Amino acid sequence: MNRRRPLLAGNWKMHLNIPQAVELAHAVTAACADCTDRDVMLAPPFTALASVALALQGSSVLLGSQNVAWEAQGAFTGEISPPMLTDIGVHMAIIGHSERRQIFFEDDAMINRRLRATLEFGLIPVLCIGETLQDRESGATFTVLEKQLRGALQDVVPEQAEQIVLAYEPVWAIGTGKTASAEQAQEAHHFLRSLLAGMYNKKVAESIRVLYGGSVKPDNIDILMTQADIDGALVGGAALSIDSFKRIIRFQ
Ligand code: PGA
Repeated sequence: MNRRRPLLAGNWKMHLNIPQAVELAHAVTAACADCTDRDVMLAPPFTALASVALALQGSSVLLGSQNVAWEAQGAFTGEISPPMLTDIGVHMAIIGHSERRQIFFEDDAMINRRLRATLEFGLIPVLCIGETLQDRESGATFTVLEKQLRGALQDVVPEQAEQIVLAYEPVWAIGTGKTASAEQAQEAHHFLRSLLAGMYNKKVAESIRVLYGGSVKPDNIDILMTQADIDGALVGGAALSIDSFKRIIRFQ
């Protein structure tokens, strides 16, 4: 029986202006008014974070950022630091999203620096890892996942590791409408949890929430959430409409 608290997270990517973001945030708080047994997180674009933080005041919906710098301040043009985010009420930071890895060439070492900075400054990292279609077709899925996980968690001690959220996001399923089957996702999640047990211990492995991401929709959330090692979802496209995100939050 799965004892971890489910987390349903919406990654708004580079979408929505401030009024649109605030409107959607209000709608999500209304949809979550009675969400006592699950966590919901929204990751708006940086420009809307402060306004969405205000919109979320008094609700249980958590605020996330889509990335984070590894230093508190300095000459890092274009970056936003962990204290800047905690200042406006951000709780979580998505790190290592495949779009960051593929389009902006973030590598495991950089992702590791970002992840350690979140922990140092009191943010919860949502670490994304996942294989490409080529990796999957060549049988390299588990090798790639292991390399990404070990790389991101280098020098992270068990007490810190316990706090992270992991998101398994097969790159071939992101924004493509092709979801991994519940069995494929469960297989990867189980593999990751076993790996964490080996890298740390069973307690750490059992406490880390592992989300699935990649074309999560109202019509596949329920079956995904029946799997023992799937503790929630990181949702892109379907998080931009209140109807679909509400149905995902209210998975059965
Ligand atoms: P998607 O995106 O739900 O649109 O596939 C998921 C993600 O990139 O986190």
